[in-house]
Amino acid sequence: MSDTTERPIRTFHPRRGRMSNRHADAFAELWPRLGLTVVDGDRSPLDPAGLFGRDAPCVLEIGFGMGETTATMAAADRGRDYLGVEVHTPGIGNLLALVAEQGLTNIRVAHGDAMELVRRLPAGSLDAVHSFFPDPWPKARHHKRRLIQPANVALLRERLRPGGTLHCATDWAHYAEAMRETLDGDAGLVNAHGGYAPRPAYRPVTKFEQRGVRAGREIFDLVYQRR
Ligand SMILES: C[S@@+](CC[C@H](N)C(=O)[O-])C[C@H]1O[C@@H](n2cnc3c(N)ncnc32)[C@H](O)[C@@H]1O
Repeated sequence: MSDTTERPIRTFHPRRGRMSNRHADAFAELWPRLGLTVVDGDRSPLDPAGLFGRDAPCVLEIGFGMGETTATMAAADRGRDYLGVEVHTPGIGNLLALVAEQGLTNIRVAHGDAMELVRRLPAGSLDAVHSFFPDPWPKARHHKRRLIQPANVALLRERLRPGGTLHCATDWAHYAEAMRETLDGDAGLVNAHGGYAPRPAYRPVTKFEQRGVRAGREIFDLVYQRR
């Protein structure tokens, strides 16, 4: 019997990871209040103001890894709310531990596929979308797994408010070129710098970026705004 169920193409490979005690403690304490499980296929609307309990500009960070960048940015930017989404559970635990240690109130953490989460957000509800060092999927046959591709970009752009920012960064030159082509090709976006941007002061150097720099790779920031 053949399986005719259509599975979505994922931008990630599920991988197991162990939570340390520090992560597990933070998870037990904060997940019930700050966490959100993204269930594939769930299309119930999600209102950022409802999640955060206040009506403030909302930044979505896709694939925050271990969450250090998210915590640093949220701590320096208390007037905006940061919704981070990640599939890797130790990263979720680490971000929650940072939230507890730093007493941050403007972070919520979603576990699951970012694009499933984005589908549930209202049009125009985001002030910014951050995708820092998304998996590059360098092999040509895997390019379909890349996060920054036309259909995903169209959806992300539609969830931004007019004037809102889509900020991507990568240390993979070929992905940077492909990102530029995709972002330039979206008529609803405008390149805020006319080319690659210097790393904005608000973006800390991320963990993956450090690895790229150590390996001698160039870093590319791409900052676009919704028209
Ligand atoms: C290369 S890492 C970069 C992590 C971090 N931004 C940094 O720069 O250190 C990419 C991360 O994106 C996550 N990821 C990939 N696809 C995702 C998706 N569809 N939804 C949520 N997270 C995703 C992966 O689990 C991984 O942790």
